[in-house]
Amino acid sequence: MTTPNLPAANAPQLDGTVNLADLEALGKSRLDRNALEYYASGAGDEVTLRANREGFRRLRLRPRVLVDVSNVDPRTEVLGLPLSFPVGIAPSAFHGLAHPDAELGTARAAASAGSVLTLSTFSNTPIEAVAAAAAGRFWFQLYLYTDRNISAEIVRRAEAAGARALVLTVDAPFLGRREPNERHRFALPPHLSVPNAGSREQLRALESESGSQLVHYFQGLVDKTVTWADLAWLRGLTTLPIVLKGILTAEDAALAAHHGCHVWVSNHGGRQLDTAVSSIEALPEIVDAVQGQVEVYLDGGVTRGTDVLKALALGARCVFLGRAALWGLAAGGEAGVRRTLELLHDEVRLALALCGKQNVGQVGRDLVRR
Ligand code: LAC
Repeated sequence: MTTPNLPAANAPQLDGTVNLADLEALGKSRLDRNALEYYASGAGDEVTLRANREGFRRLRLRPRVLVDVSNVDPRTEVLGLPLSFPVGIAPSAFHGLAHPDAELGTARAAASAGSVLTLSTFSNTPIEAVAAAAAGRFWFQLYLYTDRNISAEIVRRAEAAGARALVLTVDAPFLGRREPNERHRFALPPHLSVPNAGSREQLRALESESGSQLVHYFQGLVDKTVTWADLAWLRGLTTLPIVLKGILTAEDAALAAHHGCHVWVSNHGGRQLDTAVSSIEALPEIVDAVQGQVEVYLDGGVTRGTDVLKALALGARCVFLGRAALWGLAAGGEAGVRRTLELLHDEVRLALALCGKQNVGQVGRDLVRR
């Protein structure tokens, strides 16, 4: 990682930021330890967390020249939703830890940038309020609860609020062990609620004296028995497209496509199984396995416009920002997330032009040397 975690006095202010690393430094400088360690940490030795970025860095581009790039167009579509460029916001819990704007800030920024927000089940803001702020530009992330009635009700609310897809996270039957959160007893601060996950009192009842309290929330709420067979239950509840987030192998990608689900390549930002393959390294076999039957997305380690192009070249339709969006939110609320998306939008346009591509449709595997 090239960016030191600058002390507050040295961090640039929002309008002085020129890249996502600046926003990361600024955002980090504004967080307390509880929030910073929650967002920043990965599981175990954080090998996969680092590998996500290293995987992009290792790939080399093969630019073409003498192409008219006076009008580069980075627009695309995901599940029929037009995007101003192929970048959305990944689900992450507890945006209220980053900034008082919380999910409303992220949603408004996604809407004004022509992006899409994937709202986490573990949001600090109710689905309906986020939906209004996102102006229709939102997907909803789902964990299946042991009490399926609660999950069914959440799905009903998300659909009624206008979610355009359900994103079922499939890589977290148990929460990965993020050791800083264990060491310092990560817990939700008392001023934040989690309106889709139960009352404060219900959550507090799951808490204990030590360790990451999120591990206990998970232990108490999330169903560990879920299998491919349960997708039929979900399918029966909704007509929305279903995306499975957390696929890392060709085998599971083929099963997802067989079940009519779209595929989100992810290792949960290195927060679940440490030493799992990086997202960008997993992508090609997954794209080959689904043979164009379903859409493929990716998150994990995207911080540059060239990263976006590399993921597109290897077959992703769109990438999603996890931590990068949170650093923007911490740096300046809604305006910080907008800045994140604007900077990356400009980088994608420039990278397309310098690669000799007029639009994302011209980006293919020949753009990367592997
Ligand atoms: C996490 C869960 C909540 O990664 O998705 O912390």
